[in-house]
Amino acid sequence: EISEIQGNIFRLKIDEASPLRARYKVPDVLIKEPTTQRLFVSQKESGILALSSVNEDYKLKVTANPFQVVIQSKGETVLSMNSNGLLYFEHLQPPPGDRKQEDLGLWQEKFGTFLDIKAHGPSSVGMDFSLHGFDHVYGIPQHTETLLLKNTSDGDAYRLYNLDIFGHKIHDKIGIYGSVPLLLAHKPNRTSGIFWLNSSETLVDINTKTAKQRAVPLTDVRWMSESGIIDVFLLMGPTAFDLFKQFAQLTGTQALPPLFSLGYHQCRWNYEDEQDVKAVDAGFDEHDIPYDVIWLDIEHTDDKRYFTWDKKKFQNPRKMQEHLRKKKRKLVVIVDPHIKVDPMYTLYSEAKDKGYFVKDRNGQDFEGICWPGSSCYLDFTSPEVRKWYADQFAFKTYKGSTNILYVWNDMNEPSVFKGAELTMQKDAVHYNNWEHREVHNLYGFYQQMATAEGLIRRSSGKERPFVLTRSFFAGSQKYGAVWTGDNTAEWGYLKISIPMLLTISMTGISFCGADVGGFIGDPEPELLVRWYQAGAYQPFFRGHSNMESKRREPWLFGKRNTQIIREAIRERYVLLPYLYTLFYRAHTAAEPVMRPLWVEFPEKIETFDVENEYMLGKQVSSHPLDFELNIFEVVRIPVFQRGGTVIPLKTAAGKSTEWMIDISYELHVALDTEACAIGELYLDDGHSFQYLHKKQFLYRKFTFHKNILTSSVFSKMYFSKIFFTERVVSHWAMLPKEVVTAPSLSELRKHLNDAISHMIYF
Ligand code: NOJ
Repeated sequence: EISEIQGNIFRLKIDEASPLRARYKVPDVLIKEPTTQRLFVSQKESGILALSSVNEDYKLKVTANPFQVVIQSKGETVLSMNSNGLLYFEHLQPPPGDRKQEDLGLWQEKFGTFLDIKAHGPSSVGMDFSLHGFDHVYGIPQHTETLLLKNTSDGDAYRLYNLDIFGHKIHDKIGIYGSVPLLLAHKPNRTSGIFWLNSSETLVDINTKTAKQRAVPLTDVRWMSESGIIDVFLLMGPTAFDLFKQFAQLTGTQALPPLFSLGYHQCRWNYEDEQDVKAVDAGFDEHDIPYDVIWLDIEHTDDKRYFTWDKKKFQNPRKMQEHLRKKKRKLVVIVDPHIKVDPMYTLYSEAKDKGYFVKDRNGQDFEGICWPGSSCYLDFTSPEVRKWYADQFAFKTYKGSTNILYVWNDMNEPSVFKGAELTMQKDAVHYNNWEHREVHNLYGFYQQMATAEGLIRRSSGKERPFVLTRSFFAGSQKYGAVWTGDNTAEWGYLKISIPMLLTISMTGISFCGADVGGFIGDPEPELLVRWYQAGAYQPFFRGHSNMESKRREPWLFGKRNTQIIREAIRERYVLLPYLYTLFYRAHTAAEPVMRPLWVEFPEKIETFDVENEYMLGKQVSSHPLDFELNIFEVVRIPVFQRGGTVIPLKTAAGKSTEWMIDISYELHVALDTEACAIGELYLDDGHSFQYLHKKQFLYRKFTFHKNILTSSVFSKMYFSKIFFTERVVSHWAMLPKEVVTAPSLSELRKHLNDAISHMIYF
């Protein structure tokens, strides 16, 4: 089937006409079944079909023998499929029965000491795509690789197979933790994308011939998946922002995070007990460092039984949370997907009775080893299991939890110690009898989906959830944040974190971060400081360290370093109005919060491979790493505001985001060469869904023109808390002679809640 989806998307779907058994089609990733439009047949000859898109911008030439599809835009060939004849579709076959031993080889495979029995035989699919005129391709996270995808002809293909690889290497194409099968291609006048919707193990081969090698550059991309069908979406852009919207149209946009989750997070494996939590919390106040959330890793539980507490170390978790609540801070606890085999553990016995665990190939509950020892794995692919799991977060069920407790989903690739490649056997069996091989890359996606649902439900639909996941897939942005897993406390990992985060951001997941300081090992103080400076300008900002690492709270590295870290974290808090506005744009318009320079400067070839510098929104660029400059002591991180922009800031940082509600705003105006600037500010209560259901938010647009700064409404509805703008700071010594707001103050008042007693306008 070839179809057009409104908004410059084409879909090619290939399935067997009458398979022996239905093949797996990825459910739940597309937010809805896309509405397709009929392509016009503009020409039909034997073996050739010429089709036009509804708006006639695109022509598709389909040939039968060999099967090929060429997509052209206004005479320019953009993309072709199967030009290299690598279309491959293994039809399902009847079991070999008594047939020859060679045939059996396709039905079972040895992996080290593991035997993978393919109950339904081999079923791989593959296809090649040629991207004409493109020699820059990006995307397909997650790899510890450069921003620009490399040629794979003399090495390994990029692999998309979610794995827990402790101490993973840098510059490796093996897949870690999460996958998004979206590849982006860019050239000065166009950005295009290929979204290969398949959740089985997938390999991607890239072969780029640059302008130096060929008159017109060309990139060949070959996708190969172990199973499923071919279901591919061709996102035609033509701009990068169009492409981001097209991908969001299919898989959804970033969930709007609660404001606190954009603050700084302090994590460690582990904060030992209630006293430790209190002491660390107090440490932030003593050292005057803002932070919003303290995290508890697996040791907080009763012997790795999630949803429980270690009774000795956490005797009164509610009291601990009440203490944090008074400090206007939150708690995040870890909830992993493996469940300790223990008939006395209610979660286990209930799930076992209900048949909620993934099964092995013999129909028994699949048992693997993880933190608790022998464990079973909840089958999150089942809607019933997800609902039951979501209910576990209800306050009355999850004893000791309160509404300041949020959740971290880890080990959800899933990680199975001693399993093949430390994950689940591919022949394990899920809901509806699908083998694990079909759904592997979706496992973490589904756990986060169920967890986010649970947090929403426990608040009767009122509060926005916060869930961090390690494993992810296309569409995970709808459920929360992701982080890049177990990095190492070395300079190279700080450096690679930038292209890794940019790649994740470009594939729809704006809310992403890397462990500040590096999880494994002990960073030298300068590395830690620099990591804080980098992290302060990245979407998800959390310090985390391993069990064997030395304690790493920001004040443990001498006065001077504490001072620099304090400054970096404060800069983050001052920047929050801007960052929150960017998240609103990610949520509503699918614009990545963190983005590579080329996205903002699509015609500037020199930006296409820049990965040590990036943009936060359109207006701020951050250059956290300049290794050539390393000989100088860097006290501040080079951050630039783009000319022609207005960015909203707070005038000061507070102890946490909640302490900052009454702190005034400041507008930073940086003029362009015409002495103009524009910007915006989004503001709401920071935690509920009222912005959505009741349109309670404020969204203002600022324009600086002819020496007048105007503030006007973007939206018709107003949020009931007024913001105060204390200062307007203009760069390059030009202060506005007049500041105007539209609608006028009195008009604006009419719309506002009566409860407002006073309002200051500039
Ligand atoms: C692995 C995670 O990546 C890490 O962040 C966490 O601390 C450990 N699991 C223990 O839960």
